[in-house]
Amino acid sequence: MSGKEKGLSLVSKVRRMERPYIIINCAASADGKIALPDKRQLRISSEEDFIRVQNLREKCDAVLVGIGTILTDDPKLNVKYDSKRQPAKVVLDRYFKTPPNAKIFEGGSKVYIMVGPDVEREIRKDNLELIRCKLDENGLIDLEFALKELKMRGINSLLVEGGGTVIWNFLKKRLFDEFYVYIAPIVIGGISTPTIADGEGVRREEEIIMLKIDKIEKVGEGILIKYLPGL
Ligand SMILES: NC(=O)c1ccc[n+]([C@@H]2O[C@H](COP(=O)([O-])OP(=O)(O)OC[C@H]3O[C@@H](n4cnc5c(N)ncnc54)[C@H](OP(=O)(O)O)[C@@H]3O)[C@@H](O)[C@H]2O)c1
Repeated sequence: MSGKEKGLSLVSKVRRMERPYIIINCAASADGKIALPDKRQLRISSEEDFIRVQNLREKCDAVLVGIGTILTDDPKLNVKYDSKRQPAKVVLDRYFKTPPNAKIFEGGSKVYIMVGPDVEREIRKDNLELIRCKLDENGLIDLEFALKELKMRGINSLLVEGGGTVIWNFLKKRLFDEFYVYIAPIVIGGISTPTIADGEGVRREEEIIMLKIDKIEKVGEGILIKYLPGL
């Protein structure tokens, strides 16, 4: 199959899927940590990796994070260079704790906040849509339900940027098509420092999430690993 044909078959596969095409991306230290021990953000990416992430954001219809990341990092989640295409933003926020002055509301892109079914709080923002979602078996936003809602709103590709609890749940439910981990040559340490995948972890060896390495490359001072879902 030629490159063009492969590209076209991926496009038609994505159109047929009930959920967006999902790319998970995160930057970690050599010991798998993604923030400081007190959860504060730190710059882990190299300049080259930063540009790669901006390109990913520009390519995707939306960027998703959890409320933990909104409350600790207050990210804008936009493409930082002058771009004609800015992604929509999505937050998983069961109790609707996103502050009205959060930076994700800046820039005018659509912001979808996925909240639980009983949320009553409202905030007025022209670019905000609250989507009431079913909860899953752990009382979190049901990802399959949320992803279907996003797909119905024209989100065909989604970049999941964290934090550790969100990445864990996408991996656990095998809701991803590509998984990028940038590993910087630094060590952060700390027993409760956020890691690439937090959440409750697997209970048994048989539940381990299998990945397949698709590509490894040196990016700046670090390495970038592209994983695909394993068996
Ligand atoms: N290095 C990187 O690439 C990177 C990127 C992003 C973030 N971070 C770091 O990650 C840390 C934040 O991670 P975090 O684990 O505390 O928070 P998080 O993953 O950003 O958000 C988790 C929260 O989202 C809500 N949620 C609702 N439905 C969910 C679902 N189905 N699955 C998962 N979460 C769901 C839950 O809160 P409710 O129950 O209140 O809804 C949950 O506690 C920060 O330290 C930040 O700096 C690092």
